[in-house]
Parts: sequence; C-alpha cells; structure tokens
Amino acid sequence: MNVLNSKPLQNTLTDRFQRVHTYLRISVTDRCNLRCAYCMPAEGIVYRQKKELLTFEEIERVAAIMVKLGVNKIRLTGGEPMVRRDIEKLVGRLSRLEGLKTVAMTTNATLLHEKAEILKKNGIKALNISLDTLKKERFLQVTRRDQFDQVWSGIQSALTQNFDELKLNVVVMAGFNDDEILDFVEFAFHNRINVRFIEFMPFKDNEWKIDKVVTYKDMISTIETKYKLNALSGDPSAVGKDFGITDKSGKSGKGSVSFITSMSDSFCSTCNRLRLTADGSVKSCLFYPAEINLRDRMREGADDAEVEEMIRYSLSLKPEAHAPAEELSQSDNRTMIEIGG
Ligand SMILES: C[S@@+](CC[C@H](N)C(=O)[O-])C[C@H]1O[C@@H](n2cnc3c(N)ncnc32)[C@H](O)[C@@H]1O
Repeated sequence: MNVLNSKPLQNTLTDRFQRVHTYLRISVTDRCNLRCAYCMPAEGIVYRQKKELLTFEEIERVAAIMVKLGVNKIRLTGGEPMVRRDIEKLVGRLSRLEGLKTVAMTTNATLLHEKAEILKKNGIKALNISLDTLKKERFLQVTRRDQFDQVWSGIQSALTQNFDELKLNVVVMAGFNDDEILDFVEFAFHNRINVRFIEFMPFKDNEWKIDKVVTYKDMISTIETKYKLNALSGDPSAVGKDFGITDKSGKSGKGSVSFITSMSDSFCSTCNRLRLTADGSVKSCLFYPAEINLRDRMREGADDAEVEEMIRYSLSLKPEAHAPAEELSQSDNRTMIEIGG
C-alpha cells in the first residue's frame, strides 16, 4: 500500500491540511425501517448480508484504535442504529473505552420510546433525532411509513431522559416542509432541544435539485419574521451555526436552533470527522467516494498497526474541500443510507 504523505508528525489523526480528526461516525447497519425519499432511492437498496457487516467486536476494535489516536467522540448512526439488535450493548462497550468523552447516536426515533432509558444508562450522552415534519400525513409521504406517532412518543421519552445534548434534525426541502420552519422554531422555543435545520444535500438517486435547497440565509429571514436569533459561540469544529431564540416580547426560548449549511456555506476547513461504514470501510469525507475497507484485512489477521496504517492512508486521501453541490449530485458516491449519515 502506498502510504506516502500519510505519515503523521504526531500520534494524532492529522491530514494533509493539518486538520486533526477527533470525531468518528460509525454506521452500525445499512438497514432502516423508514424509506425517506431524500436518503434512499424509491426502489430501496440491496442490503448487505449479516456476515458483511462488522461485528460488535470488530467495531469496538476499530473504535479503540481510533481512540488511541485521539478520537474523543463517536456517533452511532446507520441505516437506523436501533434496528441493529442489542445496540445498547455496543453503546456500553464503547462508552468504557478510555479516552472517549462522548458516545452519541442519530436515530429516526421509531424505536426510541422503548430504548431511551437503557441507551442513556449505557452511556449515550448526545442524541440526535431526525424528524422533517410535524404533520402526520407528510411524515407518511416523505418516509413512506406510517410511524409518526411512534416517533413522537420517542421524542417525548428523550425529553424526559436529560441527555447532555438533545437535537432534532430537520432536512429542509423547498415546497415540502419549508412552510413548517416557524413551527419547528416554536417547538425549540418551548422545549430544551436544539432544532437543526439541514440544507438538503445531493446523494445518489435522492431526487435532489438545486431549487429544492433552502439556504440558511433564507431560513433565517423566515424565522426573523417572528423571533430574534442570537448567535451563540461554540466549538469551532461544530458543523452548525447556533442561535438562541427570543420572541417579540423579549422572552428567551428554552431551546435553540442551528443551521447545517453544507450547501451554501461549507465547513470543510474545520472538518474533524471520519466515518466507518457498516461494511467496514473508512471514509474520510461524506462526499468523497474513495473508501478503504478494513474488514477484510482484519478478518485475514491484520494487526492493529496495519489497521492504523490503513486508517491513515484513508485520511491521506481526504480532499481539502468537497465539490460544489451540482457536481456532487453527479458523483459516484454511495447513497446516504449506505454511507451512514
Ligand atoms: C441517514 S440518517 C441515519 C440515522 C437515522 N436513521 C436517522 O434517521 O437519523 C442520518 C441523518 O442524515 C440526514 N440526511 C439523510 N439524507 C440527507 C440529505 N440528502 N440531505 C441532508 N441530510 C440528510 C437525515 O435527515 C438524518 O438526520
């Protein structure tokens, strides 16, 4: 393997552009119990067989190697992470890794009502829930599944569990849910939750068009018809632009709102993320198709030093920035559900 340029100066996961990588997103399955139109093609995807997925032991091994190299936050995602059986056991194992500060999860919340308590107990500190509409009929339309009530009760359970961080991810699409922006802000105003409005991103076969993207500047204009937004300063590598909310009478909201501006104002220069796909590939950039598969070499007996070298090689390929939106929509990248959002 050619690892030229991938030798680090220190024992950290630093790329060619001096970005230090401390955040690993692990997809634990490519399966999902929803069929969101913007995430997967209408005809579905061919799911990996069970033996193609990393086992919990393999996930823990890669995680431990990365934590030794400075990763301090891991997010479990998918597919839908909660459809992977015994996911709470993996959470428990990861949260015991020395040096890891945060185990987080992104979920569609369909199964959260029954799992929120055990996930919190086993070590989930930060939970992101995805919900793009507060209207039951629209939920069915976008997810192709009639599960709004389950999601809503999952959100209520999460609100009672006092996670260190609780966020609601809303992908905003022009003509679909941009008329609900103020309703979501109202939800954030009354609840201790951070509502994150995400600009619609292009992936393979996800019906993306530039005119369906609502930019964060347009969202802010809509919100400011009813609320005042106050910029909050935070982690410089955070992907969101974060704001507190005040209503017209000057009362502050309990929650906050953020904007994930990957399309109109990308944040590649501070990117600190690596991804591990459910079938064991390291992906250094969400939008960059190249992947380095660790699973097969691990199963053939690779030692930790070799796995580390492969991770560093993947990092050495990471581009300085992703291509512009319209170019991305034509790229060879996998679907979002296969990569793990
Ligand atoms: C792929 S999902 C996986 C985790 C889990 N099943 C869930 O629904 O949260 C992770 C996140 O990616 C977001 N996502 C998927 N496709 C997207 C797109 N085309 N543009 C922006 N965000 C997207 C989803 O809204 C979700 O918040």
